[in-house]
Order: sequence, then C-alpha cells, then structure tokens
Amino acid sequence: QNIAIIMGGYSSEYNISIKSGNVVFEHLDDKKFNKYRVIISKEGWAYLDESEVKHPIDKSDFSITLSGKKIRFDCVFNAIHGTPGEDGLMQAYFELLGIPQTSCGHYQAALTFNKRDLLSTLRPHGIKCAESFLLDLGDPIDETAIVEKVGLPCFVKANKAGSSYGVTKVYKQEELKKAVEVAFEEDDEIIIESFLDGTEVSVGVITYQGKVTVLPITEIVSENDFFDFAAKYQGQSQEITPARISRAKEQKVSAIAKEVYEILKLDGFSRSEYIFVGDEPYLLEVNTTPGLTEESILPKQAREAGISLEELFESSILEALK
Ligand code: DAL
Ligand code: MG
Repeated sequence: QNIAIIMGGYSSEYNISIKSGNVVFEHLDDKKFNKYRVIISKEGWAYLDESEVKHPIDKSDFSITLSGKKIRFDCVFNAIHGTPGEDGLMQAYFELLGIPQTSCGHYQAALTFNKRDLLSTLRPHGIKCAESFLLDLGDPIDETAIVEKVGLPCFVKANKAGSSYGVTKVYKQEELKKAVEVAFEEDDEIIIESFLDGTEVSVGVITYQGKVTVLPITEIVSENDFFDFAAKYQGQSQEITPARISRAKEQKVSAIAKEVYEILKLDGFSRSEYIFVGDEPYLLEVNTTPGLTEESILPKQAREAGISLEELFESSILEALK
C-alpha cells in the first residue's frame, strides 16, 4: 500500500509538523508500507524523495508521477498541525477524493480547531471550561469589560492556532492591548480566558486496534510562567507520565477525555488538556493532530502504555483503511 505522510502546513507550526512527519516516516515499517513524505506548504505541495528532491503533487487526484508512472495513494497519514491539516481543509479534500486518512473527519476537525465553538459545543454536556471573552479583528477593545468578565491574570490566545503561538499570560490590564495584537497575528479571532490555578494534565485518546483507548495521563510542570512554546519544545518543562494525581482524579479526567472524544465523534489520535480546579478538570483544548515529535507528549504516553511507535502508527493506518 502506498502511504502519503503529509506534513508542513500553512501555519507557524510548520517546523513542528515536519518533525512529527519525519518521526512517522521513520517508524513506519517499509516491509509493510510504501511510504512517501509529502510536504504541504504555501509554496506548493510536493513529494520529497530520499535525496530530498521535490516532485510536484497533482492536486486533481493527489497523485505523483515518477519516471512516467502515476502513483496514487491508498491512505494519507496526517501529521500537519494547524491549517490546513487540523482545521478540516485537508480532511474535506481527501473525503472528496475518496482517499482514507488517519485523522478525524472534516467537520470534527473544523469544530475542534475553533476553541470558541469547541467549548460552546461541550459546555451543555457538562464539560467545564474557563470563563472566556471573544474578540474579532476590528472589534473595539474594552479592557475594563474584559477584566470584569475573566479577571486577572488571564490568557489571551488566538482562537484557531496551536503550540502556544500567539498566547500571552496577562497580569495587568495595561498589558492586554499588546497581547491582543500578538494573538491577532495568528488568527482574526481571539479568545481571552480566565487563569485556572491548578495541576495541568494532558490526556491522549486514540482509536487503537478498533478500540477507543485512553493513554496514561501526563502531568505538565512548566518551568516558565505557563506551558508556552519554550516549555513545549525547548525542554523548559517537566512532563511526568503517569501524572502524580490521585486514582480518583485520574479516573475522572480519563472518563471526561473519553466522553469528549465520543461527543465530538473523533477518530484517530487526539490529545486534550485540562487543569484541575480542586477535584474538577477544566478543559483547555483538544488537538486532533497532536504533535508526534521526539519532545511531544502523545508518543511518550503510547510508550508508557506499552505501545511502540511502529504499532501506534500502523494501527492508525489500519483504522483509516477500515
Ligand atoms: N499543536 C501541537 C503540535 C500539539 O498539540 O502537540
Ligand atoms: Mg494545541
């Protein structure tokens, strides 16, 4: 079977996605699959061969032509974070072409990637989330109203982005304006959320060998002010798997993460983040193409569960092909 591992994307998470894609490429058994690295970038879409030479993708059917021979793909492994791989665009394209792909469907991806819509979908199901304030590009910025609603400190985030790009923790009302500008560099909608003080955990939920499976939970202890980019990728955090939380808390957050996966009708991989306020987990976000780099959390959780990366990625392809 021909497997295209798509990586890159159009967002700030481009380089992280390339790393994720390469990890997938290295851990897919080439006796079982013909694997192809496909770079999706603003400059174009191309198959990258072993000698790092690029060959253009024919977007009409997502094929490549090598030495006069057309190659089509049986399955796409989606390792793109951010747009267009995590927000439903690539998913919709492959659905139209009838090519199976490893991540969730286009609607699920679009809904999940939009923090505002995700939280408002889940709140009526009793899933707890931080208080939030929304701003569209061009809206007047009423700092007093924002602080009245969400308090201080608060988090200013792009509504649709990942890896903490555009995120600022704001302590003083005067810092809001700058933080809002930074977030608007990533997206034309932003979300300002209350600071939740408590233990942060990350929960991987995947469909593995036909079963929705909650992986061992990771506790995030950032050396920085919050789990920012440097904490995520430059070692400025401790990620402890399994998390040092009580059995009761572990069961509670596992059940919620599984419920979230089921309410949203997700497929493939997902990783959601929570902060415990007392005994109650508050949902921060859901990632449907979570990072798969050496520093990323989901691969570590899989290993802790006794699942090798080879098994993890192979199962994901077999699920997509079902
Ligand atoms: N958005 C990054 C890649 C993650 O969720 O791991
Ligand atoms: Mg994220």
